[in-house]
Amino acid sequence: MEKTDFITESLRENRFWTQIMSEHALFLRQGLPCEEKEAINEARQLERLFAELKARADWTPSDREAVFLLNQDVIQALDRIIKFKTYVLKMMITCRLGGFNYPLLVDHVRREAIRFRVNLLRLNNNIQTPVAELALEEEIFWLRIMGDHARFIAHLLDPSERPLVQRAMAFGEDFETLRVQGEDLQSMLVPRDFENHLLPADLMGDPLPPGFGNLPKPFAIPRLRRFNEEVIDATRGIRDFKAIALELIESCTVLSLISSLLASHVLREAQMALEDLEMVGGELNKPQSQ
Ligand SMILES: [Fe+2]
Ligand SMILES: [Fe+2]
Repeated sequence: MEKTDFITESLRENRFWTQIMSEHALFLRQGLPCEEKEAINEARQLERLFAELKARADWTPSDREAVFLLNQDVIQALDRIIKFKTYVLKMMITCRLGGFNYPLLVDHVRREAIRFRVNLLRLNNNIQTPVAELALEEEIFWLRIMGDHARFIAHLLDPSERPLVQRAMAFGEDFETLRVQGEDLQSMLVPRDFENHLLPADLMGDPLPPGFGNLPKPFAIPRLRRFNEEVIDATRGIRDFKAIALELIESCTVLSLISSLLASHVLREAQMALEDLEMVGGELNKPQSQ
């Protein structure tokens, strides 16, 4: 990655995701039982910490060193919020913590934090990823996130909002079908991801048998470009649906448990997904990746 890409990409990631992390802390806090004083306090501190990092990201100059340090500090803050999300998830799924956060929502915001951390590690350590691998990882990540959003919307709308609940469930199905297709393509083209999912790379044997690890070029078969377009189309669809949902919520013309902030949060994530997916599309369409 070029020097300017490092700066532009780091700032784009930080300016988006630090705000998102701050909002996660707020959402988790609002769903905690009011006697959980310690967890509520930690959530408050994390909300403030990430709001401060967002302000810092906004005024960080396009200077390599300043951006590198920002990435480092955000990674440290992410370690703390991932620990918190893991704690809340563990307590909930072992029935030691009540409240109104769905376990899948806690897992979802934890996955978003882990991926943000991976992106910053890739940037700061200049880790290059082959285009087919990057494309499928991004697509599968976002397909799962968009599918989760569809399910959250369906489950937080008032049950009387039948047609909207049905639309949201249908989006859930579409994203899940696409995600399974993505996983099929992933084990065909990027066996490394499938293998590492079974055993970490350093336990797979050295040297790896032929056909393991990353397949030799060409990685990016034409089907991948079509898949990227299908994922983008589906994401535009749910982005428009979320934009309508936000309008309905802001004008108080729908019955639901969804706040304006949550509706805007998932809409902004769909917009970020489109940016990421279009960047992947650009890489797939470069002549050297074919
Ligand atoms: Fe989020
Ligand atoms: Fe999300």
